[in-house]
Amino acid sequence: MTAERYPDAMNAVMTHLQRDSAEHSVRVAQAAARLAEAYGSDVEDARIAGVLHDWCRDVGGAELLRRATDAGLPVTAVDTRTPYLLHGPLAAVELRVEFPWLSSQVLDAIAVHTYGSADIDTLGMILYVADSIEPGRTHEGVQELREAVGEVPLSELFARTYAASLRHLVAARRPIHPATAETWNARVAGDRP
Ligand SMILES: [Fe+2]
Ligand SMILES: [Fe+2]
Repeated sequence: MTAERYPDAMNAVMTHLQRDSAEHSVRVAQAAARLAEAYGSDVEDARIAGVLHDWCRDVGGAELLRRATDAGLPVTAVDTRTPYLLHGPLAAVELRVEFPWLSSQVLDAIAVHTYGSADIDTLGMILYVADSIEPGRTHEGVQELREAVGEVPLSELFARTYAASLRHLVAARRPIHPATAETWNARVAGDRP
């Protein structure tokens, strides 16, 4: 039964998402599995979180806002300006219904994959990093992040990946979500005076 869960999830993703999103999802699943192996975490959870994380990636902005509001999710001013960010938390809500067997750990990792979280756990960090370094990604510094897998602790790999994402947000003058600032302060920033 358990062995069929990843194929079931992947088949659902293939029909639910547009082709490029589905292909990205499979690459993230593979990258997440490799990260889980490198860091001694549960490989199957990582693969399932990876393949399902972008379940709501193709939903338009207005519809994301409507569904998130209906689901009772917190919607900040930044979410209203950039509703795309809501595709993480909304996916966790909708996947809980679609796949009742998903663990809360997998759902939590999916929920925080767009913003991060101050109390992000091992699976959450694995998914965040996998999403950023899968082979389709070409952003500056991605190769250094790939080469650091297994060479630095997972928390350090997450911090480097998160810093790269934030540099991109700042360079593009995109809004910074409150959860992003919280994640930065709790998980990335040092304690220099
Ligand atoms: Fe995403
Ligand atoms: Fe993604």
